[in-house]
Amino acid sequence: METEIKMTKLASCAGCGAKVGAGTLSRLLEGFETVTDERLIVGYDRSDDASVYMIDSETALIQTTDFFPPIVDDPYLYGRIAAVNAISDIYAMGGEPRLALNILCVADAMDDKSVREILRGGYDAAREAGVIISGGHTIKGAEPIYGLSVSGFAHPDRILKNCGTKPGDILILTKPLGAGIITTAAKADLADKNTLEKVYEKMAALNRKARDIMVKYPVSACTDVTGFGLMGHCFEMAQGSGCSIHILSRKVPHYSDAAELAAMGIVPEGAYRNRNYAERGVCVTGDVSLAIQDVFYDPQTSGGLLIAVPPECSDAFLSEMKADVPDAEVIGYVSAEKEYRIYLE
Ligand code: CO
Ligand code: CO
Repeated sequence: METEIKMTKLASCAGCGAKVGAGTLSRLLEGFETVTDERLIVGYDRSDDASVYMIDSETALIQTTDFFPPIVDDPYLYGRIAAVNAISDIYAMGGEPRLALNILCVADAMDDKSVREILRGGYDAAREAGVIISGGHTIKGAEPIYGLSVSGFAHPDRILKNCGTKPGDILILTKPLGAGIITTAAKADLADKNTLEKVYEKMAALNRKARDIMVKYPVSACTDVTGFGLMGHCFEMAQGSGCSIHILSRKVPHYSDAAELAAMGIVPEGAYRNRNYAERGVCVTGDVSLAIQDVFYDPQTSGGLLIAVPPECSDAFLSEMKADVPDAEVIGYVSAEKEYRIYLE
């Protein structure tokens, strides 16, 4: 008799919430000697979504990897979300993803059928993105892990970094927040079924449409909102750009139940890590509840793109974006203040 194994029960932490905090990461990497090459346009020191290497004056290679333990019980959906999330970092750089390698760790408790389903989810996402999975590596281990290493291309002059915002830029976010909180609630059977379905659908959706529209405009900066939460990614954007960010808290799209669940204390561990990392830059000036702040710190798996758009084209940008990506909303703006703060208004 076949027993149904709950994928998330095999994991100690879920999705991008499993990410090691940004502060810890920079400590671990401190002081290593590396090869220098002026063709490396974006490297680790930039805390960007992917690294970028100039091949020639027309072509830049963009590389990234992302993998994590199960965030959902359905193995197909898990595989799909993990692949969509990994590919997203290429989109966040304004690139076109082309090649990928599977990264897979199989736990003893998993049967062949669920392993195949994880991979099928990954292959379906890759096909939809126009990505060739050309190989990979599989090991056995204590917990299931799946993801991709992805390579993509863009014109070197058209690379979108997470820094580069200019005062006056309008910030647009293309997926709702709160996926970490809702999936944490789901582990304790506390999530509303309809909300959960919506979260799954959004996590499984490629940022491809958002990217294709974005590259038609003179966008200043872009990143995808993932493990560091909206606040962590805004903090990196503000620091990297030498600007301050103002978040219009009431305008930030989030799943309706996320704030209620956060108020009940259902907040993933990663949200506290993100708060520890980014809080020194955050200044609450408006009437923003702690629960809503938790939503802003909530680590997202396969989150949306956060795009800084010059004010003169932001209306046209948003209306074109909304036609294809209805969740896209203006969530704030950039100011010239040099103390790299994030004001929650
Ligand atoms: Co990213
Ligand atoms: Co990443």
